[in-house]
Parts: sequence; C-alpha cells; structure tokens
Amino acid sequence: MQPQAKPNNPNFSSGPCSKRPGYDVTALELGTLGRSHRSSIGKVALGRACSETAELLGLPEGYRVGVVPASDTGAVEMAMWSMLGARPVDVLAWESFGSGWITDITKQLKLENATATVADYGKLPDLGAVNFDNDVVFTWNGTTSGVKVPNGDWIPDDRKGLTICDATSAVFAMEMPWEKLDVVTYSWQKVLGGEGAHGMLILSPRAVERLESYTPSWPLPKIFRMTKGGKLDEGIFRGETINTPSMLCVADYLDALGWVRSLGGLSGAIAKSQANLAVVEKFVAANDWISFLAEDPATLSNTSVCLTLKASADQVKALVKLLDSEAVAYDIGAYRDAPAGLRIWCGATVEASDLEALMPWLSWAYAEVTA
Ligand SMILES: Cc1ncc(COP(=O)(O)O)c(C=O)c1O
Repeated sequence: MQPQAKPNNPNFSSGPCSKRPGYDVTALELGTLGRSHRSSIGKVALGRACSETAELLGLPEGYRVGVVPASDTGAVEMAMWSMLGARPVDVLAWESFGSGWITDITKQLKLENATATVADYGKLPDLGAVNFDNDVVFTWNGTTSGVKVPNGDWIPDDRKGLTICDATSAVFAMEMPWEKLDVVTYSWQKVLGGEGAHGMLILSPRAVERLESYTPSWPLPKIFRMTKGGKLDEGIFRGETINTPSMLCVADYLDALGWVRSLGGLSGAIAKSQANLAVVEKFVAANDWISFLAEDPATLSNTSVCLTLKASADQVKALVKLLDSEAVAYDIGAYRDAPAGLRIWCGATVEASDLEALMPWLSWAYAEVTA
C-alpha cells in the first residue's frame, strides 16, 4: 500500500544539506550587504563567524579558526600545500574524498615520502598501522560511504607529525577530540545547512608552528598563503579574509550558528543527529532487504547514512526516481563513485519526524521496483 503521509520536508541531500527547520531567508541580518567586507560592520560579522565557531565547538586555547576561499576543498588544499613536505606523509582513504587527497598528494604535490592506505567502501583502513612520526591526512567521516572513524583514540598525544583532518560532514555532528587534531576543515553547507561558499580552517598551535618554521619548495598561490614575513597572518583568523567573501553566505552562517545555540549548542546538535540515525537503524533492523554500507556499527556515520539494497543498480535508480517524483525524498541516491544504494542525510537540520515518514515510503518504493 502506498503510504499516505509524506515528510514535511523531502530534502535529504548530503550536501548542500537541508536548511534548518524554521529557516527564513528574510530573517538574515543583511546590514553587511553592499558594504566592504573590510568595513567595521563587515569585519565584525566575519570576526563573529570565527569567534562564535570557536566558542560553540569548545576549541582549546590557542586554536585558530579562519574563513578561507573555496569551501572545504579550499581549506584542505590550503593546508596540504602549505604544510606538507616537511615530513613523510601517511594518507588514509576509504571512499571518494579521501581518494582525492591521495591523488593530490601523490600526483599533484608529487610527495615522494607518501604512504597511501586504502580501504574499500564500507570499511576503514587499519588505523593501528598509521605512523604518527609522519604527517597524517584523513577524513573524519567518509561522506560517500557513511563510514566514520569511531573516535580519536588511535591518535597519540605525543605524535611528531601533524594530523590534517577533512571533517566537513562531521563538525557540529560528531564529538571531535580537538587536542588530537592539528588541522580541521569543514564547509557551511553540510551539517549546518548553510550556503556553499567558504571553507573553515581550524589550526592547532602545532600547525601554526609548522607554518612559521617551514616553507614548501613549491610556489603557493595567494589564496593559500597564511604567513607574512615568516609569521602567521593572524588577521585571517579574526575575519580579515584573504580575498572577498560572500557577505550573504556569512550572514547565513551566523544564522546557522544561532540555531545551533538554540538546540543547546554542540551537544544538542549531535544528539539530534544521533536520534535521526536511530530512526534509520530501527528500520534497517526490521527489514532484511536493506543494510548499512558501513560494516562495523562503531564506524556507522550519523550524518551521511549509506545503505545497500537487495536490488540491482537499475532498480535502486528507479527507487530513487520514484521517491523524487512523489516529492517524498530528493537526492538520496548514492554518490556517483560509491556502490549503488541510498544515502540519507541525518544531520541535525533534518527532523526525525520526516525520517519516520520516509521509512514506509522506502518499503513501498522497494516493493514497486522489485515487483
Ligand atoms: C569528506 C568530504 N571532503 C570534501 C568535500 C568537498 O567539500 P566542498 O564541496 O565543500 O569543497 C566533501 C563534500 O561532500 C566531503 O564530504
């Protein structure tokens, strides 16, 4: 039987993700629009983007937060091109985005002392085999496989290398052990439902020390440069961006941070995402035709939830199309490089009630396409 009730909000995309419940574009504080980003009002807004992020995330003393160009990718590239090469590097990948960082390190930066450790979709590489005398590049949550690292226990406090962590689908949705992470990046359009535009770059004091003590042998484009005269350009981490940001996107980001505060802060946002995952977990436990791509429950992502079905790739495609045409769920097909399946965003901008409403539709659509 075709279910009656549809999700109020059918947006389950893994990026850009659903806007927060109650989002109203007309409620944004737009006094900065049409003004210089270096005006006092512009600087205040950008400074708030940095300081409110640090406060909400509970970053340790001495950690810097900056708004940088080109979304999460820009932030990761900036870190890799500025810091790598001082030591050998271990790079871990278990899905498409991590694989992209391997390509950059081996084929673009052409680092000779690079060790890539790769695992298949659904698995994690052996975290115990990582050499922390080296720099280590990894994603916290593999957005295209729905596999996250379970925690930071595998990262030693007394490491010699830097940990560079692409955490775009994890920050504000998962506990991050900041002291174990030297570089953390994310973008606004994921967990916070913000607008795609700028990257966030978080640096530990050890990362700053690397920037001030090491100069790569290759040229650095202006939009990657974080030092001036051998010293960290602290302005970048107070909102004095390297080049012009979208003040509309900044206003939207500040609105998203206000919403996180209204949830009770970081812990509220994490709890909401976990409750969302629980809806899908209950459904998977009750249906033998659907399972998580993540093999180990300890690594199961609570944001980009990836599912495989007992169905052909064409049947999965038909299911995704059917739910789209019914306006029940948009953009829930697996990422283009990932195994055929579904990917349902469970970050805090999604309501558990909408996931509850979606689940019977999955059963109905599955029956339709496999009949
Ligand atoms: C783990 C990961 N890294 C990098 C990216 C690229 O992010 P952006 O488009 O913000 O540059 C994504 C986007 O989905 C991602 O999930």
